This record gives sequence, structure tokens and C-alpha cells, in this order.
Amino acid sequence: MQELHDAPLAPLTTLRIGGPAGRLVTATTDDEVVAVVRAADQAGEPLLVLGGGSNLVIGDAGFPGTVLRIATKGFALDGTTLELAAGEVWSDAVDTAVLEHGLAGIEFLAGIPGSAGATPVQNVGAYGQEVSQTITEVVAYDRRAGETVTVSAEDCAFAYRHSRFKAEPDRWVVLRVRFALEDADGMSTPVRYAEAARTMGVGPGERVELRAAREAVLKLRSGKGMVLDPEDHDTWSAGSFFTNPILTEAEHAAFLARVAERLGADVQAPAYEAGAGHKKTSAAWLIDKAGFTKGYGAGPARLSTKHTLALTNRGTATAADLLALAREIQTGVADAFGVTLVNEPVMVGVSL
Ligand code: EPU
Repeated sequence: MQELHDAPLAPLTTLRIGGPAGRLVTATTDDEVVAVVRAADQAGEPLLVLGGGSNLVIGDAGFPGTVLRIATKGFALDGTTLELAAGEVWSDAVDTAVLEHGLAGIEFLAGIPGSAGATPVQNVGAYGQEVSQTITEVVAYDRRAGETVTVSAEDCAFAYRHSRFKAEPDRWVVLRVRFALEDADGMSTPVRYAEAARTMGVGPGERVELRAAREAVLKLRSGKGMVLDPEDHDTWSAGSFFTNPILTEAEHAAFLARVAERLGADVQAPAYEAGAGHKKTSAAWLIDKAGFTKGYGAGPARLSTKHTLALTNRGTATAADLLALAREIQTGVADAFGVTLVNEPVMVGVSL
């Protein structure tokens, strides 16, 4: 187990932001992970568990306690059941499942940065797939009970960008994730996302070749600056910075009235089904229409020039710079449309 003191954390995040860790420990086996967590808990020491650092905003003061970096490895296929160790690089695992084994179920989640263990926490999703559609079980260390348990998909309480693990962040450390994939003779799962279907020239509900699906998604993501490129500051982000707001019917009606008043009666705000009595709208659209267009900002933290939902570090941004921009946008959108945006990335030592 590697252990460093006063270690910089910024290089371990996709935003490249954040102060140092009091102690940085890298664990390469489940036993090491559990031992570090147990020891920290017994000593009453603060603990931060770090995966791929792609959905994380760490404050400029860093983290005073132990930061545990999960670097476990394991890609195990049994028929169409895939078990991934938490430390596996997610996009590599997708590539292997698709390109080497021809299995469907996670092909539209290609190119998403971060680790496999992080995927159930916020129920990672894109282009019509969410990991909740394929996860069957999550093996996790339960810090409250002090033991490793297997959590069934049902007990994961998955929802849009949410789960039991996100609801109880100080309780769970994900060790392994099991997925039920599908052998569809080299074809993808039915395409659900309109934009993806359009790109691939098929109708919604049709299947396409797995490789074509993966490539189309990578192209779409790159076009939105959502594939990490160390050379390109436009991709130094935590992906979507805000979740898409879910409104009750009453809130949605009030929102539509504000849109009509501000932008004209002919303007249609994006609206998606979000369960009984609810509608989901688009945070990217709200940000844009509140006046924060692509590339907005003059300092070291600016909106991506390719997508308004990605707040980017142009090279020298601090957490303070990034949060100032996030607050400006949050306030601007609330003033314009009466909707309060909620951050998607996990905040460490800072809040909006
Ligand atoms: N839009 C704008 N301005 C922009 C970009 C988009 O007005 O600069 C509008 C578009 O016109 C579109 C709407 O916003 O109508 C939605 O945009 P998009 O299809 O890009 O999807 P999104 O809702 O912004 C979500 C996820 C992404 C995921 C994509 C594709 C969330 C918070 N974000 O983005 O996930 O890749 O759909 O499925 O749910 C992430 O979670 O980090 C993430 C990148």
C-alpha cells in the first residue's frame, strides 16, 4: 500500500482543482480498502474515498484527514455477467465489454470518465442508458455495520443521478459492481435517446451495431467537450455541473409561465417525463437562456465552449474561482426562471 503525506489532490481530479491530502493512501485490493476504512473509522479520523476524481470538486484547503484512492483491478466475465472491481477505469471496461466480448448494455456509456465503483453512486447515465438498467448487485463495505455486504439492485434505490450510496455518503464504500449484460449478436440495446438515434440514422427503439453505437456516443460526447483530453482545457471539467431539474406539475406550470414571459410564448422549454406528476427540464438550456452562453466567463473558470453544463478550469482556476462562477449561474437561473439548480459533483470542504 502506497502512503504519501501532504499530497496534492488536484492532479487526481479531472477538474485539476483542490488542495492537498493530509495523508493519501492507495489501496490495490479489497482487503486493503477495508483495512484503511476500518482504521480511519476506529480512530475517528475524517476519510475521503477517491475513485477517478471525475465528479469531484475539492476545496482549496484540501482534505485534512485520510484520502483513500481505490486502485483495485478486476474485470471478470461469467457468461453475460460482468463483475468489475471498483478501481477499474470505467471507459476501459466498456471498451473491453463491447470490443472484445460483443456484449450490450453499457455501450452508450462509453467515454464517461471515472471509475467503475463510482457508477452506482450517482447512477451514471448517458444517451438512454443508466447503470441501474444493468446492475444486479453491488458489493460494498458498510461502515455503520463494519462489514462487507452484497446490496441487491432493488436495495440500491436507484433514481435519476441518485442511489442509496449517494443518500448515505458516509456509510458505503463500493468494492465491486455486478452487471447483467446482453448478448444480442453484436447489436446494441434498443436506442432510446433521440439525439443518438438521429446521429446513427435509425428510429428510436431500433438496435444498431455495438461498435457503431460506441463510436457514435464517443463522437457526440467529444462534440460536447465531455471526453477528457489533458491537452484541452475545454474538457477540464466534472462533466455536467448541475443535474437536470425535476419539477412537480405545479412548479412546471409556473416555470412555463416564466419562460413565456421572458422569452416569448412561442419558445418551448425542453420537457421530459420524470415519473408520475413530474417533469424534467434541461439545466443546460436554462443556463443558456439565462444569458450564460457557451464559453461564458472571463477568468480562469469559464463555461465550456461546447456545452453550457460543463464548468471548466482554463488552467489556473481555484475552487474559489469555480464556485464563484457556479454561484453566479445558480443565482442568474433562479432570478430568470425561478428554478434552483443543484450541483451534480460531490463537494469536498466547499458548498454552493
Ligand atoms: N443545450 C443548450 N445549450 C448547450 C447544450 C445543450 O441549450 O450548451 C440544450 C439542448 O438544446 C438540449 C438540452 O440542453 O435540448 C439537453 O442537452 P444534452 O442532450 O446535451 O443533455 P443534458 O441534459 O445537458 C445529460 C446528462 C449528461 C449526458 C447527456 C447525454 C445530466 C445532468 N447530464 O446532459 O451526463 O451525457 O445527457 O445523455 O443528466 C454527466 O452527468 O456528467 C453528463 C455529462
